[in-house]
Amino acid sequence: MILISGANGTAGRAVITHLARRGVTVRALVSNAQSAQSIEAFGATPMVGDMRDPEVRRRALAGISTFYHIAPGLMAEELDVGRQFIAQARGEGIKRFVLHGVSYPYAPNIDFHWTKMKLEVELLKSGLAFTIIRPTQFMQNITWSLPQILQLGEFALPYAPERRMGFVHIDDLGKAVANVLTEPGHAGATYELCSTARPIDRNHIAAALSRAFGVEIRAVRCSFDDLQGSHFFASLTAAQRQQLANMYEYIDRYGTAYFNNDVLQMLTGEPTTSYQAFADELAHTTIPSQT
Ligand SMILES: NC(=O)c1ccc[n+]([C@@H]2O[C@H](COP(=O)([O-])OP(=O)(O)OC[C@H]3O[C@@H](n4cnc5c(N)ncnc54)[C@H](OP(=O)(O)O)[C@@H]3O)[C@@H](O)[C@H]2O)c1
Repeated sequence: MILISGANGTAGRAVITHLARRGVTVRALVSNAQSAQSIEAFGATPMVGDMRDPEVRRRALAGISTFYHIAPGLMAEELDVGRQFIAQARGEGIKRFVLHGVSYPYAPNIDFHWTKMKLEVELLKSGLAFTIIRPTQFMQNITWSLPQILQLGEFALPYAPERRMGFVHIDDLGKAVANVLTEPGHAGATYELCSTARPIDRNHIAAALSRAFGVEIRAVRCSFDDLQGSHFFASLTAAQRQQLANMYEYIDRYGTAYFNNDVLQMLTGEPTTSYQAFADELAHTTIPSQT
């Protein structure tokens, strides 16, 4: 059986969708009864518990052959939970540990990247068979600010519109990871997942959204403080906000302009989703009253 932690997020749901299509049994670790109900609808068997609790981790890992560990975004205890999961997975005789990491984990100033780098090292030292998945930024991240983008005609983030980055469509990720979890092989591999054929900048994204929604959208640069009013930022602690500020500062300086979609296509045997195709999909699924 496969265990997925952090299962009720964007990534977990996408992976579970593709595993369910293959008829694979998945134990999904979620934090509460309501999430258990929603993840059951995706075809997984839920287990409710807090992954920070050692006894919950022990019960979650019992009888599992392959484990896909997704740390909840910006979780303060990510390093400790990840280390403990690795140690307990050894104890339970797990056959393969698959880490949901991040592209460009090498940035020491971005805690949630650097932590994943440290966990990669823990895995290397653990003696466990492992696979590391490093997703680029999810295309779907834009959905939280889409109503505002459409209302103002501006795609505002605190980094230069010309900085190029790789983006992954979450369904491409789900398909690739489902293969990695169920196929023989993949032990010892590190895969960076990017759907765009080459890195793109925010002018490209604004143009794709303009075409898809039939309105003019410009990519502009705002200050980090301009983001504070949003619902998402209001829910974060000061430490979490600082992490995101560090991330934007990094992107503003360097971008992450070195990805292509070859690895994803190799893993799925299918073409990946372009940003334009994603924008068209958004335009078809966005209800006008929400915009
Ligand atoms: N967003 C990106 O562009 C991107 C790119 C690359 C890598 N990443 C990495 O991907 C991960 C986030 O993926 P995601 O957005 O799919 O996940 P997420 O929504 O941030 O977290 C996954 C789920 O974990 C559950 N959870 C939270 N605290 C928990 C706890 N203490 N015990 C058990 N479950 C708990 C929550 O669901 P319930 O409370 O409903 O159970 C949550 O939806 C992060 O590690 C991030 O760094 C993100």
